[in-house]
Amino acid sequence: MYTRIITIDGPAGAGKTTVSKLLAQKLGCIYVDTGALYRGVAFEILQQKINWEDDPVLEGFLKTLDLNFIMEANHLVLMSSGRDISGYIRTPEISMLASSSSAKPQVRSALLDIQRHIARTKDAVFEGRDMGTVVFPNASHKFFLYADLAIRAKRRFDEMPEKAKDLSRVQKEMEIRDNNDSKRITAPLKPAKDAVEIDSTFLTAEEVVEKMLGYIEKA
Ligand code: DC
Repeated sequence: MYTRIITIDGPAGAGKTTVSKLLAQKLGCIYVDTGALYRGVAFEILQQKINWEDDPVLEGFLKTLDLNFIMEANHLVLMSSGRDISGYIRTPEISMLASSSSAKPQVRSALLDIQRHIARTKDAVFEGRDMGTVVFPNASHKFFLYADLAIRAKRRFDEMPEKAKDLSRVQKEMEIRDNNDSKRITAPLKPAKDAVEIDSTFLTAEEVVEKMLGYIEKA
């Protein structure tokens, strides 16, 4: 069956999540946050104290991994072995571990089918790092969203609970993640050749969505 897939890639804090949700709402389709899957892997690595840098250990662990999304109202909830783990995957520790463990090709290939399976039956906006380059090279529309590092860090900082706030730490960690995600050998963060690049530094999420809709409607 043919489904319409729209991909949005880009670094952390560029506004991908807000924009993807809004765009999916406007188009009447679902929105899939693929970073949640990599966070789910990191969550289980921590829970089970897995030595993920050891390839045979990592491969054994990935065979037992049971991650999937279930549909709730109009959004997807991340489940691990039947348990909703979406409330536990947004910590700075998990962000860093998701970034480093996602460089492993074994981790990436374990998550590939889950992502493509969703796209088989549903129109969707997929956000991530390698949506347009690797997972959905034939997507209907591809976007790459970026913004200045200081602005991205400030946006993330503003979303944080009061007691966790530390702007310089947020910015430093974001820089490390950007570096990991774009320098890795397998599926690095980069725009697909046919992606429309949008700089969101001086744009609101609504303005970015308007621009995207302009490209989608023109096609
Ligand atoms: O989108 P996010 O910040 O929740 O993603 C967390 C990490 O997961 C990110 O630093 C790199 C990895 N990731 C990836 O490698 N590929 C994706 N498609 C999505 C996320």
